[in-house]
Amino acid sequence: MKLRLSETRDVTDRIRMMTLTAAEGGPLPAYSAGAHLDFDLGDAGTRSYSLVDFVPIPDAPDSYRIAVQAEPDGDGGSLAMHALSTGDVVEATAPKNSFELHVDNAPTMLIAGGIGVTPIISFATALRGRGTPFHFHYAARSRAVCAFADRLEDLFDDALTLWMDDTNQIDVAALLQNAPRDAHVYCCGPKGMIAAVKSAAEAAGHPSDRIRFELFETPQTEDGDQPFEVEINDGQVFTIPPGQTIIEVLEEAGVDVMYDCQRGDCGICQTDVLDGTPDHRDVVLSEDERTSGNVMQICVSRAKSARLKLDI
Ligand code: FES
Repeated sequence: MKLRLSETRDVTDRIRMMTLTAAEGGPLPAYSAGAHLDFDLGDAGTRSYSLVDFVPIPDAPDSYRIAVQAEPDGDGGSLAMHALSTGDVVEATAPKNSFELHVDNAPTMLIAGGIGVTPIISFATALRGRGTPFHFHYAARSRAVCAFADRLEDLFDDALTLWMDDTNQIDVAALLQNAPRDAHVYCCGPKGMIAAVKSAAEAAGHPSDRIRFELFETPQTEDGDQPFEVEINDGQVFTIPPGQTIIEVLEEAGVDVMYDCQRGDCGICQTDVLDGTPDHRDVVLSEDERTSGNVMQICVSRAKSARLKLDI
């Protein structure tokens, strides 16, 4: 799709709200809470941004809203988005949703960290619209960098708790311990928060199929990353250098691979490991799956052994 940036508004020093309409005018494809758009930013690559809705989503939307946090140390995608001016046209996919809300009426705990709040706002709006009980926990480093705090307090009142690292830091272990065991739990935020929610939910005995999450962080190269080899079923061997993923190298060589998020949270690229030891960097596998070493997410994970043999 071609989308035109119709309005921008800075909501904090680094976070810019952007409204997009169809470049040629008219209605846009429908979507549900939790959906995102993938933007094609040319040399800056592809970036995903969740749609954010403070009011119920119409059946035939005439605009999309996203909130983009500038990451000066990132890969350039967010800065490319911030460089856009009103009236500019960008290319994006139609909305996709790999973070769907459940359909039953069980109580729901929403947990957001930083700019990961965007899909969680849409969830809170949708849950309130259908009368499902929920509580919305939103953690940020401080009130100054907490996007939409005043607006969310007005909208969600007692159903919202703001947690600030500098005054009242969120304790996810306590939240999960006190949540009903039939609650649905949704978390969107940085990797550390998702890992903490997953392990707290496991420790408190929540069924794993009630916990869903979306990572709001671009995968980073880690210090000390080394090249390693990947062997696939037809015997071809590829070298994966630091700074490139298995998916990137295989795709460049014309190997067909399935993937979506490329952050390690959707599970689509999961691949059987036939030999070698993966270095897991995803947030989707359970502890048992990690320990077994039999599967890995090839969009972010690397290798602890010199070579991996993968079922591709
Ligand atoms: S593409 Fe989503 S986990 Fe790999």
